[in-house]
Amino acid sequence: MKKLTLLLAALFVAAGATAQHTFNHGPYLQGVTEGEASIYFTTSGRGFSWVEAREKGSSAEARRYVTTRHGLIEAYNTRNAIRLEDLRPGTEYEYRMVSKEMVDFQPYKVTYGDSITSPWYSFRTVDPRAKEYTFAVVSDIHGDAEKYTTLLVHLPMEEVQTVFLNGDTVDYFVEPDQLYPAYIDASVEMFATGKPFVAIRGNHETRGALAREYHNYVYRPNGEYYGLYKVGDTAVVVLDCGEDKPDSHPVYAGLVDFYDYRARQAEWLKGVVESDEFRSAGHRVVMIHIPPIDRAEADEDRYRELDGGTQQVYDFFVPVLNGAGVDVMMCGHTHRQMLFEPQEDRDFPVVVNDNRSASLVRVSSAGVNVRTVDVDGNVTLERVF
Ligand SMILES: [Fe+2]
Repeated sequence: MKKLTLLLAALFVAAGATAQHTFNHGPYLQGVTEGEASIYFTTSGRGFSWVEAREKGSSAEARRYVTTRHGLIEAYNTRNAIRLEDLRPGTEYEYRMVSKEMVDFQPYKVTYGDSITSPWYSFRTVDPRAKEYTFAVVSDIHGDAEKYTTLLVHLPMEEVQTVFLNGDTVDYFVEPDQLYPAYIDASVEMFATGKPFVAIRGNHETRGALAREYHNYVYRPNGEYYGLYKVGDTAVVVLDCGEDKPDSHPVYAGLVDFYDYRARQAEWLKGVVESDEFRSAGHRVVMIHIPPIDRAEADEDRYRELDGGTQQVYDFFVPVLNGAGVDVMMCGHTHRQMLFEPQEDRDFPVVVNDNRSASLVRVSSAGVNVRTVDVDGNVTLERVF
């Protein structure tokens, strides 16, 4: 009897009959602005998926959002990134995911299977009048989701509006589902159904056979990994450091072009610091994974890679940011906690988090308050910039 049961079970699995259509990762919020937000999620099998959203508390029928490209609605896929548009600023919305399994997709006949609907979730669009902004900064998780969760547990997540992952979330990107257990699933569990995270690339996200696919998992403003995030009175500039070693280093096998990329990014940055959006901000924070510290500051024992890409981060970005009124720059990469005061060639302070700490940043009329807490819950830095 037992053998027969096992045989039947095996036949069911072989026929796909027991595979239920489910949402298996997400939803996680990305790219939340005053008027838009993206919902990212995956389904267990190929399907046609969409998001329904409406103002929270509204009795109006929810609007259906899909992704369309070149006249075709995205379908027969498992990974979804659906952009909600025409939202009102500073407003709470509720949303849910809907997916219809696509059992067969013939040129003239589509066969749908299970239809599934998620619970309602909610989030708030950015308020352009906000005078305060609270966010968390975590770097160098290197795939350790347990450590990441522990770090967030020590922060008042109910206050946090955005989590900035300041690089090196993984060692390298080689498996399509690798980012979920590394940090995305934990983010969903902790906050990301209702608040966005911003994934800033470190030098490790650029490594591995799938590094060129990373953009499919995270939102990038204007299609770039660098960008300006404006939340009310606060401007946050995110920079993309690239690799730490010279482009010509043998480990990159001639496949990176970060020197030119940084030069173009520096040109973009010049435009940002001259923009009304940036200049009108009351507070300005810059985030980049690799810290721009110069040779005089570098302790050779702690920071041996001061060449190639690392040196360029200093040479390309610091001159543009000098005089721009940057309150503080937040970095990671070194796995050592460091604080560099402004100096002759760099007129802003740099906070470098180690790989076992997270910072809570509270921006208000009192300034930019950075409170860093380690995995054991000890406060290792408290400073107003
Ligand atoms: Fe790094």
